[in-house]
Amino acid sequence: MPSIDAVIVAAGSGARLGYTIPKAFVDLCGKPLFMHSCEKFDTYKLIGSIVLVVPAEKTNEAIEIISKGNFTKKVRVVAGGKERWQSVQNGVEASPGPWVLIHDAARPFVSHAVIDSVLEKQANYDCVITVTPEVDTIRHFVNDRALTTLDRSSVVRVGTPQLFKTSLLKEAFLKALSLNPPPTDEAMLMEACGIPVGIAWGDPLNFKITTKSDLTLAEALCALNGVR
Ligand code: CTP
Ligand code: MG
Repeated sequence: MPSIDAVIVAAGSGARLGYTIPKAFVDLCGKPLFMHSCEKFDTYKLIGSIVLVVPAEKTNEAIEIISKGNFTKKVRVVAGGKERWQSVQNGVEASPGPWVLIHDAARPFVSHAVIDSVLEKQANYDCVITVTPEVDTIRHFVNDRALTTLDRSSVVRVGTPQLFKTSLLKEAFLKALSLNPPPTDEAMLMEACGIPVGIAWGDPLNFKITTKSDLTLAEALCALNGVR
């Protein structure tokens, strides 16, 4: 019996992309960005159901788009919040199962292999994040002045999907309002509650579309893979 629900967060505005419509609704190879992730989780065997979190004013539009899709699993559409963690919280509240996989709609190239690698850690951790190696030299800076260089081999880039035991994540949300600035992912909330966070190696191709150049790359990748 499948017991993991996928929560696809798509309620951000996409300020850094700079379109007039929310980022997750921007077209990528013939369909809205969020549909790529929804379809990938729909065809993954261990997923029970999908919760898609969208901007409140886009709920009806999203329901219509989803209803025209060919989904085999139940897809619920719920409204998001101002901060990412609030969108995740709304999605988790609508998830019936004991485990949730949280995924950014802004990462359309999530693969079954990446989901496999996260779930391989489920027996050891109640929270697992996807990471990729940092390949550039990373420095602190102030204004136009370079400061100290970080040890690249001891840092990773954090992405999604991220796996959580639902009950622990619900408890961790109680911490969220006390964090300033707000957490950029929910693993930071788990960490604040003293819960160990495991890492699973992901795939650099599961990159996040943040700026226009990311979208250009994504279009090229889609065309190459014949995704239409
Ligand atoms: N997200 C969300 N609710 C929010 C903020 C973000 O569901 N209040 C989602 C986005 O839709 C995205 C994912 O979280 O799929 C990662 O966030 P990010 O890449 O920062 O997207 P945006 O917040 O939309 O972009 P920006 O920060 O440039 O405005
Ligand atoms: Mg954001």
